[in-house]
Amino acid sequence: MTSPVSKRAQAIKASETLAITARAKELAREGVDVVAFAAGEPDFDTPEYISRAGHEAIDAGKTRYTPASGTPDLKAAIAKKLKEDNNLDYGLKEIIVSCGAKHALANIVTVLVGEGDEVLLPAPYWVSYPQMVALAGGVTRVLPTTSEAGFKVTPAQVADACTDRTKMFILNSPSNPTGAVYTPEELAALGKVLIEKGVWCLADEIYEKLIYGGAVHESIAHVVPDLEPRTVVVNGHSKAYAMTGWRIGYAAGPAEVIAAASNIQSHTTSNPTSISQAAAVAALSDGKDVVEHMRAEFERRRDRIVEGLRAIPGVEVPVMPEGAFYVFPDVSRLYGKGGFAEAKGSFDFAKVCLEEKHVAVVPGKAFGEDRCVRMSYATSMEKIEEGLARIAALAGA
Ligand SMILES: Cc1ncc(COP(=O)(O)O)c(C=O)c1O
Repeated sequence: MTSPVSKRAQAIKASETLAITARAKELAREGVDVVAFAAGEPDFDTPEYISRAGHEAIDAGKTRYTPASGTPDLKAAIAKKLKEDNNLDYGLKEIIVSCGAKHALANIVTVLVGEGDEVLLPAPYWVSYPQMVALAGGVTRVLPTTSEAGFKVTPAQVADACTDRTKMFILNSPSNPTGAVYTPEELAALGKVLIEKGVWCLADEIYEKLIYGGAVHESIAHVVPDLEPRTVVVNGHSKAYAMTGWRIGYAAGPAEVIAAASNIQSHTTSNPTSISQAAAVAALSDGKDVVEHMRAEFERRRDRIVEGLRAIPGVEVPVMPEGAFYVFPDVSRLYGKGGFAEAKGSFDFAKVCLEEKHVAVVPGKAFGEDRCVRMSYATSMEKIEEGLARIAALAGA
């Protein structure tokens, strides 16, 4: 019997990382002391002033549908944030609030990418982008980057990859999984190529608040004003405000694109949760101290985990992550050696870490780089020390 599943749905792969994370959770449920470096979310609770605003929204009866693209209050707060933090001017018709940045990205990809359109995606990349493009009927063209280039794509690579079908370039800075942050100069050079080639830029800035060691985040839409009419900036509350479960993200871009995204959203999810939207307004009204507290703590952990990994023979951290909360070590020199004798790639490596030492890491192959694994330092310093010791023991150090 032929499959009832549509061709488009069949093209969507299950998350390659799911098996590892599911197994890590199963072990933890069995009472095993798992060190989890797999998490993609802050280990902090949502700050109290935000949660309180959520409670108050319920008590005040803010429990009904809102406009599909978000409440005017939240859109105004986002417009203010984009102006103050990013030097960007967007009106309320140029902003849509969605159920997380992931949903915002999926909406925008659906709006802009047509059947057979090509999307340029620097690798290593966040796992969901190619699947969103496939779901829209587009084709992802992966642009590999090297550690020598700081895991950043060059303007020449982008220019060479452009064809008459190229519609969009996806820029994720700070990057998941590498932590790479593009400098304003690099953004300017990339933007110049995108203008020349007439390509749209989807700028995923979800990790903008989590940057370290003096790195600066600037939005490409500000650095390259001529590109702004063909840029959509995506951001959200999950990472900066430890609000992953509240599901609030947003996109800002040309009114025509935002209106089309709102139409799609109105027929699929309708509005993001009314209660979360009220809490999200509160989040943006305050919180510089709590965000800075989390950022500083992540920086301390980044410094320690990178130092600890670099001390393990066979493990390299060629690029110091400058943002997000991930480190992307090259562990390929351990494949076939010591405790990793059977390992041929990053999946095997992750499996050995989990089964032998109960350390959960995410295989780099899922992000397009089989020599590396992704380790999240959104976990306590004690867990980081314990995890480093267990990996060192496996490596025979
Ligand atoms: C690069 C990147 N973009 C977007 C998201 C989506 O975040 P959310 O949907 O929770 O706002 C994530 C989450 O892991 C991410 O890593």
